Amino acid sequence: MGLDELATKPHEQLAAHLSGRMDAVNLLIRERMTSEHAPRIPEVTAHLVEAGGKRLRPMLTLASAEICAYDGPYDVHLASTVEFIHTATLLHDDVVDESGQRRGRPTANLLWDNKSSVLVGDYLFSRAFQLMVETGSLRVLDILSNASATIAEGEVLQLTAARDLRTDEAIYLQVVRGKTAALFSAATEVGGVIAGAPEAQVQALFDYGDALGIAFQIVDDLLDYQGQSAATGKNVGDDFRERKLTLPVIKAVAKADAEERAFWVRTIEKGDQRDGDLEYALALLDKHGTLDATRADALAWTAKAQTAIRQLPEHPVRQMLDDLADYVVARIN
Ligand code: IPE
Ligand code: IPE
Ligand code: MG
Ligand code: MG
Repeated sequence: MGLDELATKPHEQLAAHLSGRMDAVNLLIRERMTSEHAPRIPEVTAHLVEAGGKRLRPMLTLASAEICAYDGPYDVHLASTVEFIHTATLLHDDVVDESGQRRGRPTANLLWDNKSSVLVGDYLFSRAFQLMVETGSLRVLDILSNASATIAEGEVLQLTAARDLRTDEAIYLQVVRGKTAALFSAATEVGGVIAGAPEAQVQALFDYGDALGIAFQIVDDLLDYQGQSAATGKNVGDDFRERKLTLPVIKAVAKADAEERAFWVRTIEKGDQRDGDLEYALALLDKHGTLDATRADALAWTAKAQTAIRQLPEHPVRQMLDDLADYVVARIN
């Protein structure tokens, strides 16, 4: 039995299949995350990188390039670029969200401080840009710099949409598409572009990444209410505490009676949260079936991702990306 068959979960199957290239990605990440001039940088980056992470986005880039028959060296640079951009956004995101746990470890903002997280995040962004320049492809630079701007826009839009009960599903989708799906779709798109794939295939890869990223974030928001800290490596209930209007809550607010609405106004808009409020919020989500409805939405995005990936020529890795879409909704971490 080969490594591919031994692995059970779809992302593990993909990881096993891509293990040689992923080793090269991890090596390049290690090489580029250090700094000779500021010791705080390797301290913080080593803390984050050694904690692991699923490496989903770089795998998407490698897989996309492989399906499109790429045989050059730059898929590794692009995959590392994408993971650097991801890691930089996590450092910034944990400051913004005042989060205390990431990848099963205390966050950098907790262990060091907000200043270190912001500045090391900036450093990683800059390292990402240096890496992608090495590919010599202006189109790739265009895609990844646009994605970086879109992620920032999504995070800022979320800032103003949080704590505002008028936030609806359309605004939520805009936030999620920006802060999360933009990097997934850029990760898949650049894989096709670097391989010189026909435009229709590049478009299909983009559409797959976009839908997968949306499904992924919807599930992340579900896990913030339903997950186990031990599995997610993050604190459960962070979104409620941060007064974020994620999909399960948006759906519950839409169905709220006067008394329930008063509860959401107090806890989310006014931020007056007391003992037992998170449990009561969960009871309301349960009462209105919004966790199930949210999961159904994620499944619909998964189906869209699968429709898109099936536009590509048949390939064993295409099937792994197809299966990966199922995993994204079934995942617990
Ligand atoms: C976390 O992404 C940020 C979100 C978009 C929800 P991942 O869950 O892919 O993070 P790691 O890299 O595996 O820790
Ligand atoms: C993740 O947003 C998106 C980015 C990092 C840009 P969240 O704040 O929802 O993700 P977690 O739950 O902290 O990983
Ligand atoms: Mg966060
Ligand atoms: Mg956030």
